[in-house]
Amino acid sequence: MTETILLDPRADANAVLTAGKILRGGGLVAIPTETVYGLGANAFDENAVRNVFLAKGRPSDNPVIVHISEFDEIYPLVTAVPEKAKKLAEAFWPGPLTIILPKSDKIPCVTSGGLDTVGIRMPSNPVARAVIKAAGVPVAAPSANISGLPSPSCFEHVCDDMNGRIDAIVDGGDCAVGVESTVISLVPDVPVIYRPGGITAEQIESVIGKVEIYEAVLKPPAAGVKAASPGVMYKHYSPKAEVTVVKGSLADFAAFAGRRADDGHTAVMCFEGEEEYFSLPVITFGREDDSLSQAARLFHALRELDETGARTVYARCPSSDGVGLAVCNRLFRAAAFRIINACPVIGLTGKTGAGKSLVASLFAEKGCVIIDCDKIARELTADGSPFVKTLCENFGEDIAENGVLDRKKLASVVFADEEKLHLLDSLTHPEIIRISLGRAEKAVKEHRPAVIDAPLLFECGIDRNCDITVAVTAPDDVRLRRIMKRDGISEEAAKARMASQKLTDAYYRGHADYVINNPDTDEYKEAVGKIIF
Ligand code: TXA
Ligand code: MG
Repeated sequence: MTETILLDPRADANAVLTAGKILRGGGLVAIPTETVYGLGANAFDENAVRNVFLAKGRPSDNPVIVHISEFDEIYPLVTAVPEKAKKLAEAFWPGPLTIILPKSDKIPCVTSGGLDTVGIRMPSNPVARAVIKAAGVPVAAPSANISGLPSPSCFEHVCDDMNGRIDAIVDGGDCAVGVESTVISLVPDVPVIYRPGGITAEQIESVIGKVEIYEAVLKPPAAGVKAASPGVMYKHYSPKAEVTVVKGSLADFAAFAGRRADDGHTAVMCFEGEEEYFSLPVITFGREDDSLSQAARLFHALRELDETGARTVYARCPSSDGVGLAVCNRLFRAAAFRIINACPVIGLTGKTGAGKSLVASLFAEKGCVIIDCDKIARELTADGSPFVKTLCENFGEDIAENGVLDRKKLASVVFADEEKLHLLDSLTHPEIIRISLGRAEKAVKEHRPAVIDAPLLFECGIDRNCDITVAVTAPDDVRLRRIMKRDGISEEAAKARMASQKLTDAYYRGHADYVINNPDTDEYKEAVGKIIF
């Protein structure tokens, strides 16, 4: 345990000098910046930087940003300063932009996390720059949180995480931006934004032309690939609660939240002014149409969640335009990329006798509209329907009389000839798909989740139009017994029916988002509860 000095430059004229002296001497000082608080150390001092990693519990391969107080201080830190860097600095420094360039030998490997590049930033917060100036050395500073937790955007949050672990904390009040800087690498020919922040891609492009946005900004990094920016590999911004981002309009989100019981540990993260729509405990993060206000509030909101003791949290999905990209990036990562639709289209499939209908009825109980593709197939061929005419044109006039389909006759035609069976499928499947998707769309418009119950969900490609897919499986002997009992048929007939569905359980496990095995047991209720709320 270290004794941590709390320094307040507004009350103590020597605070900045004291902070600078501690930094220069190899100590650790948390400093306020306009983005979030940084945990500073002398960037040239390997030992001091190593202590930063220890204090945060940060993996040693995650590089630290080096902070400067004047533009010219960049020259000794990098091998060259390209024109684009100068233009960006002129437009956005001091400010929330970190520029990655090839590092000089003066930057120790500990600071660069073993990479041959280094991120440089000149913060706009005057206290930050004054402390760097007083230190007389560039200051390596990651965000001043315990690794994995939300970054600290006010003095209290730094104290929560770092009191007793570092030498001093400088009080600079609240951070104006609230999320960390935009990180851009000028190393590739087309610069890449690794982390979105307070300076938007559009602002940057207006100064240096085309930039790319790193693929792991709004989705998890590809498994097994070494990330170009190591920070994206690690769990981040995570409150103790399990956060799920829920897409959709306020009305759909409110209906979704309304289906959740107030169990004392479920909460909602919504925008300001929406509180009255929820009976669950609510924490707000900015206004819906104002990404800057969301950025300023997000980390506060994530930390407040923990104070409420919430274990399950549903968050409104912000717009990803402008600074919204940074808000989405932090929130999606806090949610470990659990992102769902408030009003989803769910594809439900499974083999005959596995228990699909039981699962469908539970979805219905939860307020979903069930769209039964077998039923649609029967409706299609109802007496007098135009589709019966289409069938007659293809399989002969004698399969129907006065518009009434003779199913037995049709069966005898198509089951005797594989090509005709294919033709029948190619006529009926597109119709069933069209009707089922149309009904799903209508349900969603009416703010109700839709379940498309389709034995051939994957075979017909309906899954591609679903937000979530669920497959129901059960052991073959269980299915056999169920089919015989349900349909009152012989073992042989039941086995023939079972043989007509070709997909294996392994296929379902590989392709469906959820597999519910043998809904004889009560566990499936829990599984359905996770899918639809
Ligand atoms: O706003 C900010 O940038 C704050 C304040 C304190 O300046 N700092 C901050 O640092 O957020 P940190 O260490 O928490 O996040 C730096 C991010 C990490 O994701 C890291 O992987 C990435 O930037 N990064 C740093 N140097 C890099 C490099 N040379 N190449 C690729 N990524 C780098
Ligand atoms: Mg950080």
